[in-house]
Amino acid sequence: MKNTQIISVINQKGGVGKTTTVINLATALTFQNKKVLVIDLDPQGNATTGFGISNNNIKTIYDVLNGNCNFEESISETSINNLKIVSSNVDLSGLEVETASENRRAFLLKDKIEEFILSDKNDFSYVLIDCPPSLSLLTVMALVVAKSLIVPLQAEFFALEGLSQLIKTIDRIKIKLNPSLDIRGVLLTMFDKRNKLSNQVDQEARKFFKNKVYETVIPRNVRLSEAPSHGTPVLIYDKMCSGSRSYLSFTEEFLKQEDIMDSAA
Ligand SMILES: Nc1ncnc2c1ncn2[C@@H]1O[C@H](COP(=O)(O)OP(=O)(O)OP(=O)(O)O)[C@@H](O)[C@H]1O
Ligand SMILES: [Mg+2]
Repeated sequence: MKNTQIISVINQKGGVGKTTTVINLATALTFQNKKVLVIDLDPQGNATTGFGISNNNIKTIYDVLNGNCNFEESISETSINNLKIVSSNVDLSGLEVETASENRRAFLLKDKIEEFILSDKNDFSYVLIDCPPSLSLLTVMALVVAKSLIVPLQAEFFALEGLSQLIKTIDRIKIKLNPSLDIRGVLLTMFDKRNKLSNQVDQEARKFFKNKVYETVIPRNVRLSEAPSHGTPVLIYDKMCSGSRSYLSFTEEFLKQEDIMDSAA
């Protein structure tokens, strides 16, 4: 059996760089010969379109969760070698209401993913889950299935607001549903070093999360915001821009965490 790591990228605040982080971490991991599966768990479907995939007429995560198809059938190829995706579209927004009477619904995603991961069809090293901007059922599902979390934090005013709510939710899930859940790291995004506020958020985040905050910060970079409209990760669109370089350096740091974890084991 493959030792597949499931990592959710989460922050209930909108527009903080969750999807951009999922797309570019996934892409950078494939450059290190890792096989990666992205699960788009957001009805906005931004990770899906960010990879240039049309989310019409294909099986999505919604079809998996409502029993229309099995997990494997929902996996699509992307244009990037070793990177596959389970896509999403607006249908997913109906799931919360449709499953209201199911008492194990928080485990729905976990059950589906685990069945696949334990099968001989799985050869992924990483499953990265792109969460929606809410603390809804979908996010709870992502917290229940994940081994660890990456929390992007926008280096802007209000960045830390809502974090206590997120941490409370994580703690509650840990106690009741997923004891081994852990924040793997906090990633500062849209950093503007000329802006005093960015530096303040940086300091406060490091005071609070200590060494959980990645040393790499993602700068505000126009190439990062252009790439999705071309349906391609910035790492392919413009490999040399500051956004790409920062995501490569973040991925290096991310992988180094594993050397540290391995040597501590
Ligand atoms: N470092 C950056 N510099 C400039 N623009 C960025 C950066 N990171 C992300 N963006 C842009 O900001 C917007 C929000 O980013 P993204 O979609 O990754 O956030 P999100 O947290 O996934 O949003 P949502 O909560 O809506 O899912 C997008 O248009 C994206 O292209
Ligand atoms: Mg998003």
